[in-house]
Amino acid sequence: MALHLEQLSVNDGHAVYDMLQRIGACENEFKNTAHGLTYEEFQEWLKEQDDWAQGRNLPEGYVPQTVFWLFDDAVPVGFGKVRHGLNSHSRTIGGNIGYAIDPLHRGKGYATVLLGCLVEKARELNVGETLLSVEKYNPASKRVIEKNGGKQINENSERWFFTFD
Ligand SMILES: CC(C)(COP(=O)(O)OP(=O)(O)OC[C@H]1O[C@@H](n2cnc3c(N)ncnc32)[C@H](O)[C@@H]1OP(=O)(O)O)[C@@H](O)C(=O)NCCC(=O)NCCS
Repeated sequence: MALHLEQLSVNDGHAVYDMLQRIGACENEFKNTAHGLTYEEFQEWLKEQDDWAQGRNLPEGYVPQTVFWLFDDAVPVGFGKVRHGLNSHSRTIGGNIGYAIDPLHRGKGYATVLLGCLVEKARELNVGETLLSVEKYNPASKRVIEKNGGKQINENSERWFFTFD
């Protein structure tokens, strides 16, 4: 089975929950809204995220987004989100794709594989031109984007902007 992506499912269990507790609530502007939830709350969160992927029950101003886990065999090692479009917030911070790796598994090349898979998913979801932004204090993520062929299109004092087409 080796490295593979799995889309979030309402049946995800403890392995995914435990990983989400190790990843911070907000690391380098990447939001992990499952951090700090009880297991019961996590199960509700899964239902919410599954709804959002289908475009159901979206909060005002939100666009549909799909969450994917990166597994190494049976072990979840990171996760990413693909936003199917952009709103005013994600156009300036975040973009169409965000990702984080379990702190237990950083520095092993997983983010590089994960981003490649997420770009592929964005294509399957017909996202079109896919935007990513990265904080200038996060050179590891910039490197991950460049290794995947991201094209830098802009920058401001705080972040760089890349696209994949
Ligand atoms: C950023 C993050 C996703 C990287 O995950 P990872 O699995 O450790 O990344 P990889 O191992 O695939 O690759 C990291 C690359 O950055 C390089 N790198 C690491 N620290 C670096 C630094 N300070 N300066 C420059 N490059 C750096 C590594 O050497 C590696 O490149 P290489 O393969 O050419 O040697 C991970 O640290 C994380 O989850 N951070 C918190 C959330 C986050 O920042 N998400 C991204 C938001 S844009």
